[in-house]
Amino acid sequence: MKFEIITIFPDIFKGFVSESLLFKAQKKKLIAIKTHYLRDWTEDRHQTVDGKPYGGGPGLVFKVEPIFKAVTALKKKQESRSKNQGKTKVILFSPRGKKFTNELAKKWSKLDQLIFICGRYEGVDERVATHVADEVVSIGDYVLNGGEVAAMVVIEAVARQLPGFMHDADSATKDDHAQYTKPEVFRIKKQESRSKKEEIWRVPKVLLSGDHKKIDEWRKRNK
Ligand code: 6GU
Repeated sequence: MKFEIITIFPDIFKGFVSESLLFKAQKKKLIAIKTHYLRDWTEDRHQTVDGKPYGGGPGLVFKVEPIFKAVTALKKKQESRSKNQGKTKVILFSPRGKKFTNELAKKWSKLDQLIFICGRYEGVDERVATHVADEVVSIGDYVLNGGEVAAMVVIEAVARQLPGFMHDADSATKDDHAQYTKPEVFRIKKQESRSKKEEIWRVPKVLLSGDHKKIDEWRKRNK
């Protein structure tokens, strides 16, 4: 899976990509993450990527041309790489998009190339949504300054669906119930208006019982 990120802030991704499991996955050639500087697809001396919105209003809007050029170039490169025409999707990040879910993450993990267009909150020329992107996606009901954080969220969610990404074969689906580890009993002294009160936080008994049928039932109830 190749992740291609079109952005005006490529440095945001540096730490994210070079740390953690993503780095290992890249070494294993399971994934490749590449940032592309949007200004590289401009022609003018000032490398202009945005302009004033038609009809007036505050802020600046990303131009369609540099984004179109970037996406076209990245698609073309992929085509020449995999002569069988790898499966590609172009995603525009926008708070106006459809909600990103784990279902989408699973679907997208079957593709060969994901091209992400990181917009900014003031907006992107709508022709990017209607003509360049295959899907417009939001990661939740709040507004971010740009699509960069959304891209990181999606990369992580998609990558962990890939076979071989996680340590355990089944850990991609784990984490969906309450979990405990040592110690069995955790005691804390709480200072409560002059008196000291001890609290004891215990691991549920059933998890220590070794009774796997009971444990499974408990986990289902504690999702
Ligand atoms: Cl994808 N972009 C921006 N700018 N804000 C968002 C978002 C995306 N998803 C939720 N809020």
